Amino acid sequence: MAKMWAGRTDGVTEKIADDFNSSIHFDSRMASQDIQGSMAHAAMLAAKGIISNDEADTLIVGLEAILNDLISGDLKIDLTCEDIHMFIEQELTSRLGDVGKKLHTARSRNDQVALDIRMYLREETDEISCLVKKLIAAVVNQAEKNKGVIMPGYTHLQRAQPITFGHHLMAYAFMLLRDLDRLSDTRKRMNISPIGCCALAGTTYDTDRYFEAEKLGFDGICLNSLDGVSDRDFVAELGSALSILMMHLSRFSEEIILWSSWEFKFIELSDAYTTGSSIMPQKKNPDMAELVRGKTGRVYGNLMSILTVLKGLPLAYNKDMQEDKEGIFDTCDTVKMCLKVLTGMISTLTVCEDNMKAAAGKGFINATDLADYLVKKGLPFRTAYKISGEIVAQCIKENKILETLTLAEYKKHSNLFEEDLYSEISLEACVAKRISKGGTSVKSVEEQIEAVKEKIK
Ligand code: ARG
Repeated sequence: MAKMWAGRTDGVTEKIADDFNSSIHFDSRMASQDIQGSMAHAAMLAAKGIISNDEADTLIVGLEAILNDLISGDLKIDLTCEDIHMFIEQELTSRLGDVGKKLHTARSRNDQVALDIRMYLREETDEISCLVKKLIAAVVNQAEKNKGVIMPGYTHLQRAQPITFGHHLMAYAFMLLRDLDRLSDTRKRMNISPIGCCALAGTTYDTDRYFEAEKLGFDGICLNSLDGVSDRDFVAELGSALSILMMHLSRFSEEIILWSSWEFKFIELSDAYTTGSSIMPQKKNPDMAELVRGKTGRVYGNLMSILTVLKGLPLAYNKDMQEDKEGIFDTCDTVKMCLKVLTGMISTLTVCEDNMKAAAGKGFINATDLADYLVKKGLPFRTAYKISGEIVAQCIKENKILETLTLAEYKKHSNLFEEDLYSEISLEACVAKRISKGGTSVKSVEEQIEAVKEKIK
């Protein structure tokens, strides 16, 4: 069959060329946005007297019927069409006759596709933001339950200072808050309407771009028509914001994997979020967390792909830009799945409090507090640091810990040590004393929890 654009050529193409050129198998997910855009366009054409009110009404009712039939399944998408824009126009014209052919006045597929993808990604951005909020709520909820649970805090993956599990979890809540912020910032630049830019140069018709933009919920219009049809910054920006989000989810997953290993056993994942091995009967594997970590790779890949597609393109529209969709669609699908899985995993995990506490007791993670004890008794920090280090070395040699060394042994290192040193270096005291803003004390973590709750309200 000859193409809708037959004229300059006979519109007959090889099947392999059609298959290569076609985008309908992935852009059909923008059907609803395409129809909404067309309805606004028809309304604008009538408002400006370019078509009659009756014609606009017929178009709008016809478009609405197509949308309903697509939703109900009565209308199947014709995959032999080049893209979703062509399919809907073809369907409209076959239902309405000549009136259908008027819809494409003062419009091009170039501004149409730019519009559709902005509208589609705007919805995705909102949905993802909602899911991020749900994950934050799950993290905060666990943090609240575990604000008094002591664990080792690490640097270089070496035990460093005692913290609480609640404090550790809240670090992720703040990362995710920044992700929310990035998404809302991305949305601002995305939410500018390209419709009316037409093919590239604007149009000779007296259109009203603000009318369409407002009808479709945009905050403004692209003020240069060449830029309007060739801007895909928002695809790269969303891909970038979501890559950073995935980087956070991946770090979190990495910790979940470590914590659920026998070497740590800080947490136990719910059976519902683990798998078994086909050969090793004892296994309980954190596959879901590993997949979140693994899928981060494809999200990064999609970002690289769009940046590379765009980098050499002359103005204005080029068919290369059709390559903008599959990657970002895949990114959005992947991120949504990861967020949902991680939210379930976090909400259902159990904390092995005793193991955390035991690990915190073994690594001399109160040595800083021992040094601080001497500082409070008048020693300069560097001197106190050296003495504490020597005490740790002695403990390691004699297989002791700071808590079991006798006062007499302490006094060999410094006369400043008194009986009160033991209460000063208990893990509970080490945590409770860290009352600085953002610190690990229960009070500081409670403040963090309140601040985050306020933000996601
Ligand atoms: N399927 C195309 C895309 O996704 C729509 C725009 C086509 N425009 C054109 N002049 N061929 O980019």
